[in-house]
Amino acid sequence: MNVLILGNGGREHAFAYKISQSKKLENLYIAPGNAGTSLCGTNIDISASDFEGIKNFVWKNNIDMVVVGPEDPLVKGIYDFFKNDEVLKDVAIIGPSKAGAQLEGSKDFSKEFMIRHNIPTARYQTFTKDTLQDGLKFLETLSPPYVLKADGLAAGKGVIIPETLNEAKKELTEMLANAKFGNASAKVVIEEFLKGIELSVFVLTDGKNYKILPAAKDYKRIGEGDIGLNTGGMGAVSPVPFADADFIKKVEERVAIPTLKGLQQENIIYKGFIFIGLMNCGGEPQVIEYNCRMGDPETEVVIPRIKTDLLELFEAVATENTISSIVTKLTLRTITQAITRTR
Ligand code: AMP
Ligand code: GLY
Repeated sequence: MNVLILGNGGREHAFAYKISQSKKLENLYIAPGNAGTSLCGTNIDISASDFEGIKNFVWKNNIDMVVVGPEDPLVKGIYDFFKNDEVLKDVAIIGPSKAGAQLEGSKDFSKEFMIRHNIPTARYQTFTKDTLQDGLKFLETLSPPYVLKADGLAAGKGVIIPETLNEAKKELTEMLANAKFGNASAKVVIEEFLKGIELSVFVLTDGKNYKILPAAKDYKRIGEGDIGLNTGGMGAVSPVPFADADFIKKVEERVAIPTLKGLQQENIIYKGFIFIGLMNCGGEPQVIEYNCRMGDPETEVVIPRIKTDLLELFEAVATENTISSIVTKLTLRTITQAITRTR
């Protein structure tokens, strides 16, 4: 198989490292890649969001599968771009449709989705410039700290957690009236602060079958000793010591299965990773956010724990086929079976 990975992070290096070991691989390319990926395949100087450039490359190099690392091309609809193109439609894409990527692309959509499907998450309301005054009043009903989230993608910086009511009001006004995050903060989600310890659970699905992958915890603060400003993630660990089998079972039953059933009910095509950002609140999972991709840096600790040939697993996702050779730990189970099992 000829495979193209999109992205340039540690996540893409981890994918490239694992895919380069696959017995199914012929040629591996990474666009644009980084120094690490150049050790596993060939870096191509094309941006992960340059759809036309990617199309030309895929066509000329007989690419069979595109593994999409970052959220940006997914939220912009790379899956749909491929599937609606006569030339590209048979190329396998590992990543959700544009509609599915809304789980990450819009905080408001993802909160509404969770409410519709009874998935545990913090109480919230969404406000726009026109309802700023209502938002300021809503803040008065909450106790500190306050959680303000820009609705759209804001390069991981769109969540603000002020300690005081005054600061929260100022931030809300900045986001809505002064477009602090541009269009991304045209809508702002305000939600209750969840107390607990954070971790992430990853689900690989073809829309019909799924597999829960090893959980991970990333450490976001920039300073030594977990201090200072938040980043996208300085490092990660897996396994997560406080996520025992009981907790993961709750995540599967209360979050993963309802999420997958919800996507099916809403006819949303999803063939890729669902990253479930969770707060463990005294043993009970609450969803903080979804991402429509694997985490970076979490992939670096999750992928080495997977024994199955990753391309074989991705092929099973693309063809909606629980191939018989994957009978070990990572066999994709059908959602129906899982639901029967947990009833
Ligand atoms: P998000 O982009 O939604 O994951 O939010 C970024 C970070 O803000 C999360 O990783 C959490 O550390 C924190 N956060 C988000 N929502 C909440 C919440 N409701 N309660 C506490 N912390 C939160
Ligand atoms: N490490 C967090 C993320 O990938 O969003």
